[in-house]
Amino acid sequence: MSPAGPTSGEQGAYRLTVNRREHDVVDSWVGESLLYVLRNRLGYLGPKNACEQGECGSCSVLLDGRLVCGCLVLAASAAGQEVVTVEGLADAEGDLSDVQQAFVDEGAVQCGFCTPGLVVAVHDLLDRLPDPTELEIREAISGNLCRCTGYGRILTAVEAARQARLEASR
Ligand code: FES
Ligand code: FES
Repeated sequence: MSPAGPTSGEQGAYRLTVNRREHDVVDSWVGESLLYVLRNRLGYLGPKNACEQGECGSCSVLLDGRLVCGCLVLAASAAGQEVVTVEGLADAEGDLSDVQQAFVDEGAVQCGFCTPGLVVAVHDLLDRLPDPTELEIREAISGNLCRCTGYGRILTAVEAARQARLEASR
């Protein structure tokens, strides 16, 4: 589903940095969300749109290192900040990140709609808190709704990513 974009009010131009690439956004309505601009103007289809109300986490991205719902952020307000989507978590050669790989290896993906937001949220967690408890993991992903998996394999994947990252840091 594509987020609806506003079609009235003022239009403007600004520059967004997404996954280390700069983009000029032109003729953008002032009320367009970051999610709308990422998906509909810039072609980053990783962040998903489900609720557009900050309830499901499917649109999660990092904004200057903070986890945000792209549907709740005005795109123009993100100018001058670093946006990272799920696409930007792989390395320059396209190799999956540790969290992405753990989701694949542990079968934590079914329809995949929730996966980009969850992967971004787990990166945020492990970057802030390298050795979280299970409760901290559950709290960190509580804003990301998954209708398919029952969360068991997702929790297993987060645990695998946690262990892999700890071992890599030794
Ligand atoms: S689409 Fe943003 S939280 Fe659901
Ligand atoms: S895998 Fe389908 S919503 Fe989570």
